[in-house]
Amino acid sequence: MEFAQHVKAQVDIVNVVSDYVRLRRIGNRLTGLCPFHNEKTPSFSIRADHQFFRCFGCDAKGDVLNFVMMIEGISFWEALKKLAEQNGIPLPKQSLASDDTTKLRAALYEMHEIAADHFRDNLLGPGGASVRAYLKQRGVTEESIRQFGLGLSEAGGRLQRLLEGRRFSKEQMEASGLVGRREDGSLYDRFRKRLMFPIHSETGKVIAFGGRALEAEEAAKYMNSPETEIYKKSQVLYNLNRAKKTAMQTDRMVLVEGYMDVIGATQAGVVEVVATCGTALTTAQIRAMKRHSQNLNLNFDPDAAGSKAAARSIELLLEESMRVRVVELEGGLDPDEYSKEHGAEAYRERVDGAKSYFYWLADRARTRFNMRDPQGRVDAFQSLLPAIQGLSNKIERGTVANDLAGYLGIEAGLVLEHFRKMAADRVERAPMPKAEFNAHSTDRILLPLLLSDEEARPQLVAALRDMAAPRLGVTGPLYEAIIAMHEAGAAVNFVAVHERLAPGLQKLLEEVVLKDDMTVASLEDGLACIDAWRRESQGSATRDLKTRIRQAEREGKFDEALRLMQELGNEGKN
Ligand code: UTP
Ligand code: MN
Repeated sequence: MEFAQHVKAQVDIVNVVSDYVRLRRIGNRLTGLCPFHNEKTPSFSIRADHQFFRCFGCDAKGDVLNFVMMIEGISFWEALKKLAEQNGIPLPKQSLASDDTTKLRAALYEMHEIAADHFRDNLLGPGGASVRAYLKQRGVTEESIRQFGLGLSEAGGRLQRLLEGRRFSKEQMEASGLVGRREDGSLYDRFRKRLMFPIHSETGKVIAFGGRALEAEEAAKYMNSPETEIYKKSQVLYNLNRAKKTAMQTDRMVLVEGYMDVIGATQAGVVEVVATCGTALTTAQIRAMKRHSQNLNLNFDPDAAGSKAAARSIELLLEESMRVRVVELEGGLDPDEYSKEHGAEAYRERVDGAKSYFYWLADRARTRFNMRDPQGRVDAFQSLLPAIQGLSNKIERGTVANDLAGYLGIEAGLVLEHFRKMAADRVERAPMPKAEFNAHSTDRILLPLLLSDEEARPQLVAALRDMAAPRLGVTGPLYEAIIAMHEAGAAVNFVAVHERLAPGLQKLLEEVVLKDDMTVASLEDGLACIDAWRRESQGSATRDLKTRIRQAEREGKFDEALRLMQELGNEGKN
């Protein structure tokens, strides 16, 4: 599709991916932790020169469109539209073909935008005076109200009529989760008399709402949007859209429990803060955070429910190789309350000075075991072993274990003994040896050159065209494809050639072109390669002829032998 090519030519995969993944430059590639599988050391890499990403761990790969489709879980058309819109590329006149789900999703986004505007207008209008006063009394600034897009759903419930007026169908309205259906089939607003927190996707679209009750007698303190086509609770983090930029800079993220905690922390200057939306932390959410930073400071409520959630979250976070610290706030206060009571600076100090999670776990263990009894101390230590085992690094495991033993008052010898046992039990998962194709060094020079050097290409193609050798090897089909595309006047680049190849050949091309960091060679290097190739293939042609002559002589076919000898003479002259 031509529009797709046009978009791909306009956007840089590096810019797009770095919105989602923390990247580091090494030579002519950028690497980071793969967003598509769990890993501790980066095997995800992007080649800017070829506009292609690839993970050598899980084999995820593709161009910029593939990346957006995979990371956002959206269709080709949605990815295309998204990239075009983000980069100011006008969409073609006849709108892009799209399936029913894509159309429904577009309608849901639109309804959420309308709803967010509507709720905000309610809050800022005359009907919102008492709620504005409530927010003020809780210390929420006007800047925060604007920044977080806070709103108010009114008792009367006019949103449904508003949406009806905008010609959304009953089915669409129901599918949005903003509207419910009564027994008799009539529709009503789901959110009424609530303080509204818009929940955004990572890229900043409103996809759901959390609504806080304004009156204490309300049965549920918070009511959240149900799951919809655009809102999957287990994958969304509140405020990630705003937090991620700073998180990448500070290489840290703070996880709190509630919407109000996010606002409180932000006002205190800790802006790289996110929250789950009233559900337990999931692996998908951890991976979303990890794309921006591997360091997480956990700051849950200090009550029993909060500690339990923290303990469970730590387990999951360690499984995903996150580096976890726990923020401890004295006085049983949550982040919002603490920063209000002790000031922004005090809160920031608490967050910055957070200690590694195992101290927190150890403190928890102290309260559950009899620490005056030596056996109690050992039991306490043992209860921490699973968490220590969750550490990925051997040396770190040893250090942490020693620290913890000291902290709990246990003999060092005992720790060592536990450790030896643990090491014996532990099956280190060695990476699977991969059968690897070793490309000829000629391929490693020629193919990248053909794909990325516009000026060298015509000469190289001309030199290659009449030679049989390049076409005979394993990589032959790659040369065939490039030569054919060049001669047909098509655009030749990594992605374009890759697209045309069968999966097996795509892999081969990736192996040869993306694998190492060699800087692309010059035209002279390329021509020298082709020259060497020609000589080499002549050498082998000569050897081949000599064998055939001996064979003919042995079989008494002297005419044949004579003809071959003449041929050999001609070879020598070339
Ligand atoms: P909190 O009760 O701590 O709420 O619940 P909060 O956001 O700090 O608000 P304030 O300070 O009491 O006004 C923490 C989070 O748990 C979810 C919400 O996401 C909330 O932000 N929650 C809580 C629910 O989903 N439903 C509830 O009934 C209560
Ligand atoms: Mn709270």
